[in-house]
Amino acid sequence: MPTKIILDCDPGHDDAVAMLLAWGNPDIELVGVTTVVGNQTLEKVTRNALSVARVAGITGVPFAAGSARPLVREIETAGEIHGESGLDGPALPEPTIALDPRPAAQFIVDTIMASEPGEITLVPTGGLTNIAIAARLEPRIIPHVKQVVLMGGGVQEGNWSAVAEFNMVIDPEAAAIVFGAGWPVTMVGLDVTHQAIATPAVKEAIAAVGTKPAAFVGELMTFFEQAYQDAQGFPHPPVHDPVAVAFVIDPTLVRVVRAPISVETRGEHTLGMTVVDLRSPAPASCVTQVTFDLDAERFWALVVDALERIGEVEL
Ligand code: BDR
Ligand code: CA
Repeated sequence: MPTKIILDCDPGHDDAVAMLLAWGNPDIELVGVTTVVGNQTLEKVTRNALSVARVAGITGVPFAAGSARPLVREIETAGEIHGESGLDGPALPEPTIALDPRPAAQFIVDTIMASEPGEITLVPTGGLTNIAIAARLEPRIIPHVKQVVLMGGGVQEGNWSAVAEFNMVIDPEAAAIVFGAGWPVTMVGLDVTHQAIATPAVKEAIAAVGTKPAAFVGELMTFFEQAYQDAQGFPHPPVHDPVAVAFVIDPTLVRVVRAPISVETRGEHTLGMTVVDLRSPAPASCVTQVTFDLDAERFWALVVDALERIGEVEL
């Protein structure tokens, strides 16, 4: 039985790859895609999500737009990493899917409450605004979901400050709500996503798939590489978000450590930092865990396999 997921994202080059992996992998059933302000404005990332759906040939999956701003802070976007559109590089086709009329948080609540207990996994790959609002709107979703597997944070690394990661910094109050809600949370942070590098060999393997969706990913990676070289000093880009989807498919891709996680919401120099208590043993009540040591080869094999299964898509 495939695992049912809702992908809550802000496409975003790596969010787009996460969507393709979720759609192409047979062990995942994509039951919804929701969007949230993050890499660009809500309007832009929502359009991008719908364009990616067209490129990937995604049909029968509801898409819902979520929050246009963080819970309490001003909007902070990542144009220097993802460009003016949020998905610069390839041509973005006109969307053909109509949005679900509900706000993302309501869509998330309705979908979870209509599911069996333990059936749905939430996979947020952007700021945690929508997920926090959903948990506040209907707290009964908290014991009802299977787990939350999120891309964000880091134990030993930051990327938006010395100690904090972008998805945490843009809405730390929402992140604190999600980590503290009481549902099982797996943090797929920079410790593993900085190992998911789109090397030249990876780009070759993707190009060898030889389809339009694969070429689209190649063009995304070309833009992303330049942005990461210019803004973050990486020779080749880390492709964060699909690692969270890959963890749902195969948790053995990483080493998992159960540990309490708090998000800094007041620190002068540490806003958005994920404070991970690795002292052993973790308290019996601890439902959060962190990930280390990605098997990058097997991770990229999953991405290539998903593209092969998606096959050719005519625009
Ligand atoms: C995260 O920030 C965004 O720019 C990416 O899409 C990813 O979700 C990495 O820090
Ligand atoms: Ca993202």
